[in-house]
Amino acid sequence: MSQDIKNFIDDIPNIPSMPSIVLNLLDELNKPEPDIIKLSATMSKDISLTTQLLKLVNSAYFSFSSRVNNVTQASVLIGLNRLKSLIISSAIKPMIVTVCGKNLWEHSIRCAVGCEIIAKSLGDDRKEEAFVAGLLHDVGKIVLELYNSNYARDTHNQFSQSNERIHQEKQLFGFAHPEVGKELISKWSLPNNIGEHVNYHHNPIQSSDKLITSYVYVANRLAQENLMYPIVDPEISENLDFEVSDPVTLREEIFAVSQPIIDVFSGKTDIKTLYKAG
Ligand SMILES: [Fe+2]
Ligand SMILES: [Fe+2]
Repeated sequence: MSQDIKNFIDDIPNIPSMPSIVLNLLDELNKPEPDIIKLSATMSKDISLTTQLLKLVNSAYFSFSSRVNNVTQASVLIGLNRLKSLIISSAIKPMIVTVCGKNLWEHSIRCAVGCEIIAKSLGDDRKEEAFVAGLLHDVGKIVLELYNSNYARDTHNQFSQSNERIHQEKQLFGFAHPEVGKELISKWSLPNNIGEHVNYHHNPIQSSDKLITSYVYVANRLAQENLMYPIVDPEISENLDFEVSDPVTLREEIFAVSQPIIDVFSGKTDIKTLYKAG
């Protein structure tokens, strides 16, 4: 099956690849002791990546009291794991926006932030893994859209329930976006555990790491433009290792916390409003 999906993806022209500068940065960040000087030097070769990172670090999302001026300072303040998720966010944004549009990008950021909020609230220190999994959960839709945009849009518009959409994707494409997303993540040399969460984000009970995949499942449901009911499928709810006691308030928090990130990425944040006085 995996070889079939691999062939399906490889046969589609224009599948986006991860930029080599991003792969180099992630390589360095995955070392036991990453070299911050080397990271800063590599990053400074990409002006737009550096600018976006500094804007994010100076945004209300982090709310540091003084201005952060360079990548070295930023990595120390936010930590290398967070640096890694922001680099992946910057790299993935043009791929999602260009192919699938800005709504899917905003939904992905909200899902990432939702995963992070849930992880934090449960005291799970794997919040960066959760953030990246949430960010990338729907990347398979890039592939389906490139394969046949009419099919992809019809599927999206015709079915409001995710299990119906998944069924329809399998009928039309042979594969559904979660499994295709997993394969794309492996093609991009991103970690297998992220692929596992992506593969099961509509059915977290089957995941080999059910807890983080469940964050993605719940955050994805709450990050929809219009809430769909039941928010959590009763069958899945019974098997979750945590309870979502007040989904509406959690959804409001997700939308509020993710807005500064969305604003920076959409260029809405004026540099003057990013920095606090003094
Ligand atoms: Fe999905
Ligand atoms: Fe989604």
